[in-house]
Amino acid sequence: MPVHNTVFDEKYTMEINIRKISVADVEQLSALARQTFFDTFKDTCTAEDMEMFLQQYYNTGQLSTELNNPLTYCFFAEVDDKPVAYLYFMEDYNSLPLMKKWKALELKRIYVLKEFHGKGIAQKLMDYFLEYATHNNYEVVWLSVWEHNLRAQKFYEKYGFVNTGYSHNFPIGNTPQTDIWIWKFLKQ
Ligand SMILES: CC(C)(COP(=O)(O)OP(=O)(O)OC[C@H]1O[C@@H](n2cnc3c(N)ncnc32)[C@H](O)[C@@H]1OP(=O)(O)O)[C@@H](O)C(=O)NCCC(=O)NCCS
Repeated sequence: MPVHNTVFDEKYTMEINIRKISVADVEQLSALARQTFFDTFKDTCTAEDMEMFLQQYYNTGQLSTELNNPLTYCFFAEVDDKPVAYLYFMEDYNSLPLMKKWKALELKRIYVLKEFHGKGIAQKLMDYFLEYATHNNYEVVWLSVWEHNLRAQKFYEKYGFVNTGYSHNFPIGNTPQTDIWIWKFLKQ
């Protein structure tokens, strides 16, 4: 269901539309996913590692498979009918089985084009995610973030996410990287 919101910025006013991504949108999702991942991590690995990662995870075939999974929830944030960010969440305990202790929802990806950082788009998507989780009686929401991605960590802290004390390897191609798991318990 589309959600409309007007976010006020010092410089301008934007209307942000959140809409569910369908398989028909896979080309747009692939382009956005590639661009945002590249911008975020290009300086943290080799060009070959980056290309390997983008080919493996953000090709349209792989993304179509994910979008066809009924357990996948994937949304664009659009400004002027153009996707400028996306959100992807799922109830999935495979990456950290201890989460099975609770009814838990994993935020798998939240990526905003860099020219739209700091403009309330990420907040709109996070609010949408948390509203979904609360409405569907989840006890905890969780996600992983690169240990050196301080901007994202600060963003999550503002929402009350805290470190779980667990981490995992998240290699980009042949470049090893460490991500930390963070979580936020929801009031029942
Ligand atoms: C993470 C992301 C979704 C957050 O959205 P955003 O619009 O940038 O978020 P905000 O601007 O509201 O919040 C970021 C905070 O980090 C702060 N910040 C900016 N650069 C920073 C840095 N280098 N180190 C630490 N904090 C930083 C900002 O000042 C802001 O805090 P404030 O509101 O107290 O001033 C967005 O930056 C993004 O898409 N990044 C690239 C993809 C990504 O990293 N996704 C998350 C993967 S886990």
